[in-house]
Amino acid sequence: MIEELTKEISEKSIVEQLKYLSDKFKGKIAFSTSFGQEDQVITDIIFKNDIDIEVFTLDTGRFFEETYKVWNKTIEKYNKKITVYFPDKEEVERLVSEKGPYSFYESIENRKECCNIRKVNPLKRALGNVDLWITGLRAEQSEARLELEYFSFEESFKLTKFNPLKDWTISEVVEYLKVNSVPYNILHDKGFISIGCSPCTRAIKEGEDIRAGRWWWEDKSKKECGLHDTSSNNIELENITNNIKKI
Ligand code: ADX
Ligand code: SF4
Repeated sequence: MIEELTKEISEKSIVEQLKYLSDKFKGKIAFSTSFGQEDQVITDIIFKNDIDIEVFTLDTGRFFEETYKVWNKTIEKYNKKITVYFPDKEEVERLVSEKGPYSFYESIENRKECCNIRKVNPLKRALGNVDLWITGLRAEQSEARLELEYFSFEESFKLTKFNPLKDWTISEVVEYLKVNSVPYNILHDKGFISIGCSPCTRAIKEGEDIRAGRWWWEDKSKKECGLHDTSSNNIELENITNNIKKI
């Protein structure tokens, strides 16, 4: 399947790739956006070309104000729907009541617990009826992503993931946004490259790693939130499994 898909898209432009896949996976294909610069490229292509792919976001409740602004600008510009998934309210209420609003700074377990509740579990719901999941991941974003392929089978979600921007450089992304007048998060102009939740993201300095501003207080090797690296994290898998059982 993955080999076949890779062969099918290899000669196509990104617009053609997305059109081809939207036909092949009709009604079962979705793109996840956090409104970062890579995601805005893909959103622009999907919306401008009227491609039949659901666009969704996982609103953790801890986004930056600037992220809500670019979200709003995007739906105004294209006049299209972006589906939102929120975390389970009882899970968030329990977490914050028991551990307070900044528990994620205290330990990696706490941080992963918060990411699970606010991102991974909602993602599980979002992907419930999806066979092909599109993301804005790029290989040059981090060491863990260097080996990124166009397609991968995601065991924990039992679906295929597609990363159309895998070989794009940051300059190509920025150039695309500029040339096509695509709305972008203004934090990118203030030294923020990779943008997640506000308490867990800071600007980076020149020469710093692209993801240095994410969970900056943690060891480099632990810095995935579980959306894209469930395999290396038993806590996340356990939590996901427990939650499926609850549903
Ligand atoms: S993360 O795993 O560290 O949070 P990153 O911010 O690099 O991921 O984003 C990589 C891709 O994950 C994005 O291009 C997007 O497809 C998806 N993603 C990340 N965060 C969200 C979110 N809150 N909602 C929807 N998709 C997201
Ligand atoms: Fe919680 Fe921070 Fe993860 Fe957001 S990035 S879900 S605030 S731990």
